[in-house]
Amino acid sequence: MKKVKVGLLGLGNVGKGVWKILNMNKDELQKRSGYDIEISKILVNDLNKNRNIDVPRELLTTNFEEILMDDTIEIVVEAIGGVEPSVDYMVRAMKRKKHIVTANKMAIGTNGKILLKTAKEEKVMFYYEASVGGGIPIIHGLKESLTANKIEEVIGIINGTTNYILTKMTLEGLDFHQALKEAQEKGYAEADPTSDIESFDAMYKLSILSSLAFDTMVNIDSIHREGITNIRSIDIEYAKEFGYVIKPLAIVKERDGQLELRVHPTMIPQTHPLANVNDSFNAVFIKGNAVGDLMLCGRGAGELPTGSAVVGDIVSILRNKENISCEFNSKKVDKSNDIKDMDCIQSEYYVRITVKDKPGILGEISTVFGENNVSILSVIQKGKREKQVTLVFITHSTLEGNINKAIERIKSLEDAEKIENIIRIENL
Ligand code: NAP
Ligand code: HSE
Repeated sequence: MKKVKVGLLGLGNVGKGVWKILNMNKDELQKRSGYDIEISKILVNDLNKNRNIDVPRELLTTNFEEILMDDTIEIVVEAIGGVEPSVDYMVRAMKRKKHIVTANKMAIGTNGKILLKTAKEEKVMFYYEASVGGGIPIIHGLKESLTANKIEEVIGIINGTTNYILTKMTLEGLDFHQALKEAQEKGYAEADPTSDIESFDAMYKLSILSSLAFDTMVNIDSIHREGITNIRSIDIEYAKEFGYVIKPLAIVKERDGQLELRVHPTMIPQTHPLANVNDSFNAVFIKGNAVGDLMLCGRGAGELPTGSAVVGDIVSILRNKENISCEFNSKKVDKSNDIKDMDCIQSEYYVRITVKDKPGILGEISTVFGENNVSILSVIQKGKREKQVTLVFITHSTLEGNINKAIERIKSLEDAEKIENIIRIENL
């Protein structure tokens, strides 16, 4: 197996996520990239910090030159954040022919031109999937999968921290500061949360999305920006009364040959798909002239979701380098070993039965369920003083095989007239 060495800049939330995923999914990543991916140096600020992660201390350095001058390191992952020294490090690394993966929207939003120009001049790859939407493959989506479209608008919840804060204020009545503290503890917020709550973070991300969607270079100065700090609980209450919910939206629309670019808290109908995107989830709603309406949704921040996008970019670089296309594995699935038998799936169930309205029938059926290890969550009876009544059971999670055995037995009960329906319940 070929080996590729990666230099990691930063071992904070994102850096740790990258380290964990490279260890957690080592075998899959080897198969998919054709390489054993090794992080051979990690740049940090403080060698003595307690990091709660099992990383050999000898990998840590505070000297960027150790990564820059090591010609065996082919890929540099930038997860430091901020503009400088990140931009300088990335430019210098590219000049030494190292490919770059970054999660840093601030660096791209302010210095995208120089970063992309350097990548082109040096003929190295520059990937930035994690810079917008954390784990959501939105950059790849816009650059590749949606490239057949003329994009008409992109509306997104693209900051996890502000979505988390507004969600907690709306659904749990938390105050602004409590909610912000929780978002920081969960690793969603930027080192300085002003960037999140005053919507600078979303502004950088919108500049990236709109540049890709509209084949242009959107300058951050063209984006109207408002933070969420003026939102009070009373606004949230009134929004509810009118059937709205307040969401931190980033919006770009092409109208009359011009781009509308804005980031601000916005009331949207409670029925809109974006209204139910809660907590740190991000979602991007796209209108394309061929695809129509499309929404991508997922975790927009946090160690593993962001690490997922970064590691995905590393694999893309390795595949492009080797010209490896992503194909189905030729190994055939062996039905007997690899596919779960339906009797062995685990689910909750809705069971509707028509029975004769006789004393004891409910007890009889419940006993049958119990004997077959099916526990009842709730039951209702519909119809009274009629010959037949309907019994509806909702079960706790159980094996499908148990339900099937119970149903066969119920069918044989004299007073059970008909099993009308059985529907599996997924408590998503
Ligand atoms: P973080 O937790 O603050 O970690 C930053 C890391 O960089 C730390 O390990 C720090 O070292 C190191 N560092 C900072 N300045 C340095 C310098 N001048 N020289 C050497 N090392 C330095 O940040 P993060 O949350 O991981 O975010 C990193 C980047 O990813 C940012 O661009 C952010 O916008 C982006 N991002 C973050 C998320 C998220 O969910 N957090 C999601 C998407 C994108 P020490 O540990 O020694 O202090
Ligand atoms: N601070 C950012 C957020 C991290 O809350 O969305 C992900 O970019």
